[in-house]
Amino acid sequence: MSTIVTGTHNGVLRIVFNRPDKKNALTVEMYEAINEAFDLAAGDPSIKALLFAGEGGTFTAGNDLQDFLANPPKGEEAPVFQFIRNLAHCPKPMIAAVQGFAVGVGTTMLFHCDMVYAADDAKFSLPFVNLGLCPEGASSYTLPRIAGYQRAAEKLLLGEPFGAEEGEAMGFVNKILPPDQVIAYAARQAEKIAALPAPSIRAAKMLLKGGKKALDQKATFERMEEEAELFQEMLTGPAAREAMSAFLQKRKPDFSSIE
Ligand code: COA
Repeated sequence: MSTIVTGTHNGVLRIVFNRPDKKNALTVEMYEAINEAFDLAAGDPSIKALLFAGEGGTFTAGNDLQDFLANPPKGEEAPVFQFIRNLAHCPKPMIAAVQGFAVGVGTTMLFHCDMVYAADDAKFSLPFVNLGLCPEGASSYTLPRIAGYQRAAEKLLLGEPFGAEEGEAMGFVNKILPPDQVIAYAARQAEKIAALPAPSIRAAKMLLKGGKKALDQKATFERMEEEAELFQEMLTGPAAREAMSAFLQKRKPDFSSIE
């Protein structure tokens, strides 16, 4: 079975992270497959909305840390950076159904989605600093605007997990549902969008994202680039390598010698 499962039903392209034994951690191959799904959505007018979900009761544990150690992304064409640009560019509505863990990019991608439905067991986290990295996916731009500066700073500086209720209070979760209902509910919401007039949906999303001048988009892309440059540099630095090796070796990281 593929690690990214896609399928279209009633005008909704479903993109499912399917690597449950690794908590759906995202590998380079998985980003490539998701990027292909974005291309498919862009070229197929019968696809009206995208739905993201995870298999096995987890959304995604974020980037695969083994992959980050072995193949750190290089340059803006790296599949992970293409993925986050696709999220910000996508003119069609994107809906997410989150169960269980949504770590790192698993949470930052939600800030680009148009609607987010979370199970009551959802656990979000942004552990970039804890991993010796910096925010990505434009989260240092989007989160303060969604949740206010102090709440964004708490989540991005401390990286501590938080639940669906806090996500709802912060403003990026639309509704909390029982875990066994969240994907079906999100799919119904996406199908409602798919049944509405496509030009109006396109216009509404374009306007919501900052209008024709795409003011918000421009700022988002500029921040993505700035983050990506720092992120790539930090990824090969001593703090990130210690943090990721410690996770894979199932021990606590030791940052005491890092200045
Ligand atoms: N990269 C690589 N492997 C990962 C992973 C990741 N991001 N997240 C989980 N896994 C693997 C674990 O190594 C483990 O593999 P193993 O069974 O071969 O030992 C398996 O998935 C199950 O994970 P485990 O940690 O045992 O599950 P858990 O329920 O106790 O914890 C998480 C779940 C998501 C809290 C925890 O796995 C975690 O913190 N993962 C790292 C998240 C992260 O830092 N992502 C990067 C953000 S930039």
